[in-house]
Amino acid sequence: MQTWLSQALLLQLRYISCVVNHVVPPGNSIGLSNVSEGTSGKNFQDVGCDASILIDSTKQKQSEKDAGPNQTVRGYELIDEIKKALEAACPSMVSCADIITLATRDAVALAGGPNYTVPTGRRDGLVSNIEDVNLPGPTVTVSEAFQVFRAKGLTVADMVTLLGAHTVGVAHCSFFEDRVSNFQGTGSPDPTMDRNLAANLSKICASPNTDPTVFLDQSTGFAFDNEYYKQLLLKRGIMQIDQELATDRSSVGIVSSFARKGIAFKQSFANAMVKLGSTQVLVGNVGEVRINCRVFNTQKRAFSAKKTRPRAL
Ligand code: HEM
Repeated sequence: MQTWLSQALLLQLRYISCVVNHVVPPGNSIGLSNVSEGTSGKNFQDVGCDASILIDSTKQKQSEKDAGPNQTVRGYELIDEIKKALEAACPSMVSCADIITLATRDAVALAGGPNYTVPTGRRDGLVSNIEDVNLPGPTVTVSEAFQVFRAKGLTVADMVTLLGAHTVGVAHCSFFEDRVSNFQGTGSPDPTMDRNLAANLSKICASPNTDPTVFLDQSTGFAFDNEYYKQLLLKRGIMQIDQELATDRSSVGIVSSFARKGIAFKQSFANAMVKLGSTQVLVGNVGEVRINCRVFNTQKRAFSAKKTRPRAL
């Protein structure tokens, strides 16, 4: 990762994650039943790959972007720049949802990951409500996390593969510091974390900086490779959900296999990203192609209660 552009592009991975572009700090996790069953009436599908996260709040209405879990998402300015250039060249042609997807594809390739082709034609959503942000945090178990992915039509293998995106980027201490010194009130670090790593992270997180960050992949934090999985096998995963992938029965085999076979990981990642980027998106005449990714084209339509059901590309 040589340039600011390629580094910034990496961050777009979090947008396309759709499944988890909103994350919740420890102690703040949400009820997964809401996610999978829509018990609140605003089910998980209502927050997804339609660029709703890019919408700015207005005086009347707070958008998804302002929800606590989304506070650490970065890189909006880059999307703005890409959109501006596209609007100048071919007005109203490329949706913000497609921009996110394509920027993610490029970010992955620039970081040394697979170069894959993604279908386009997504439309931007017309709803972005703060109260719809309702997703799992870093302390969920593998099976709880899987409920979320399954609701998107994804398999355990897809989930373990997509979490491999944590081969790049950082996490703030607030998302994992419960593991480093006083895990679940024991006065000791999480026993599934390497002792030296825990001691080191403990020092970093004690810094007077507001909320320091560390690489999610402690070996090669800027490179898109299979080191993340190797680190998990060495008990060097940063967040609880990462580390649990290496202990849970349903995922440990996949982790071991990707740790051994970097090429297989990259191929699987490309396939899983195409799958993720093609489910539950808006197509045809549904939604719109936003002119400014931060604002609905017609604000008055924006806050209608119901969102149109998404379809596959
Ligand atoms: C159960 C599933 C997941 C959970 C609980 C989760 C949670 C998190 C958390 C807590 C962070 C740290 C945020 C921060 O401190 O700012 C993070 C970072 C990140 N996540 Fe995930 N994540 C999940 C799955 C995914 C998936 C599927 C992708 C992409 C396909 C992804 C991509 C990323 C990236 C690229 C970062 C680094 C962002 C940066 O450097 O700013 N995550 N994730």
